[in-house]
Amino acid sequence: MFGGGKKVVGLDVGSSSVKAVEVRRTGTKLELVRFGIADVYPGGDRSAAGNADIYQLKTAAIRRALQSGKITAKHSVSAVSGESIIVRYIQLPNMPEADLKNALRWEAEEYIPFSIDEVNLDSVVLGNSTVEGKVDVLLVSARKDLVAEHVQLVRSAELTPIVVDVEGFAFLNCFEVNYQPARQDCICLVNMGADVTNINIYVGNTSRFSRDISVAGNQVTQSIMQKCGVPWMEAERLKRTVGLAPPEREEDTEAGENELISTIRGTVQRITGSDLGDDSPESTASKAIQNVINQLVSEVRRSIQFFEGQSGGTTVQRVVIGGGSSSLKNIAPFLGGELDISCELFDPLRSISVSRDVDSALIDAHRAQLGASIGLALRKVLD
Ligand SMILES: Nc1ncnc2c1ncn2[C@@H]1O[C@H](COP(=O)(O)OP(=O)(O)OP(=O)(O)O)[C@@H](O)[C@H]1O
Ligand SMILES: [Mg+2]
Repeated sequence: MFGGGKKVVGLDVGSSSVKAVEVRRTGTKLELVRFGIADVYPGGDRSAAGNADIYQLKTAAIRRALQSGKITAKHSVSAVSGESIIVRYIQLPNMPEADLKNALRWEAEEYIPFSIDEVNLDSVVLGNSTVEGKVDVLLVSARKDLVAEHVQLVRSAELTPIVVDVEGFAFLNCFEVNYQPARQDCICLVNMGADVTNINIYVGNTSRFSRDISVAGNQVTQSIMQKCGVPWMEAERLKRTVGLAPPEREEDTEAGENELISTIRGTVQRITGSDLGDDSPESTASKAIQNVINQLVSEVRRSIQFFEGQSGGTTVQRVVIGGGSSSLKNIAPFLGGELDISCELFDPLRSISVSRDVDSALIDAHRAQLGASIGLALRKVLD
């Protein structure tokens, strides 16, 4: 419990903000007892950072997050993320775990696009495979330089990292603890942050597909900047106020001629991204948002199709979306409609209470962003 009595901070060093949380367990009850958050870029303005060193900005943000959350833990569980984290699900002959790890050192290069000397490798046996005499193995590889830089970053904020995880798996851990899905549930988890979106497919109480993509909130902001010709902060404001259009309801499409015209108009807008003449910043921003979110939809769809193509008949039943960018207006119904799978917003505090000592307004403002940090904190609390 608590990593041998040590207090541990779940530290999510995101590309836009650092989230730091402490979770306490009393019996079976979980309680969030500390929370701090700090922007990586002063005032959240990515363009104002100029030539500032990102490493220094992140170190300073970790310190501010710890300070603002009055976090006293000296040990951290944190995570890396991004497209260079490669997760593969492979089948190997059944053998003792030690032999398996050895075998993987020789075979891993077949599965990952990096030289074995460049990466840290980890593997977990998931269970017996559908193929006789084989086991399913989860293989994770992260570039050594990425992990080393991350560890250095955490140390430079005077913390001792005891675990370095993968952000998507931390998010999944938070989901599992909060939602306690049944064995047969098959759920696609989407953690949409600023630089990275983690996609995970969870079934049989484990991850069966995991991938990080670079379509996330910053890409939306950048697209608005470009299309509207506005600075970063204005693009962020437009993103948050405009969001996605609510999907059309069935009854809207069954009415008279006027409604029919507006339906056609809506359909044209959806297909072409064109709104037949309105060139206000809001309308331009709306198209920019929709274009980027359409890319996200195709990536999620491709992931689901890939998984289902290999799953022997298991299909994804629902999509759960979290991360800061899940606050984009109407994203859940939009994704649900496009994928034709029910989609809901993730609540990282569904089964976790919040201590009275924690600022509840701050939690409410950042709730969507807390999945990974809480999942990280839970790693040691539940050990
Ligand atoms: N109301 C909102 N509408 C749309 N986007 C929002 C809203 N609130 C926050 N965001 C977006 O959420 C993103 C930040 O989310 P999050 O904190 O999960 O990312 P991060 O952990 O810093 O980044 P990453 O994990 O990708 O490195 C930003 O892109 C921000 O613009
Ligand atoms: Mg994040």
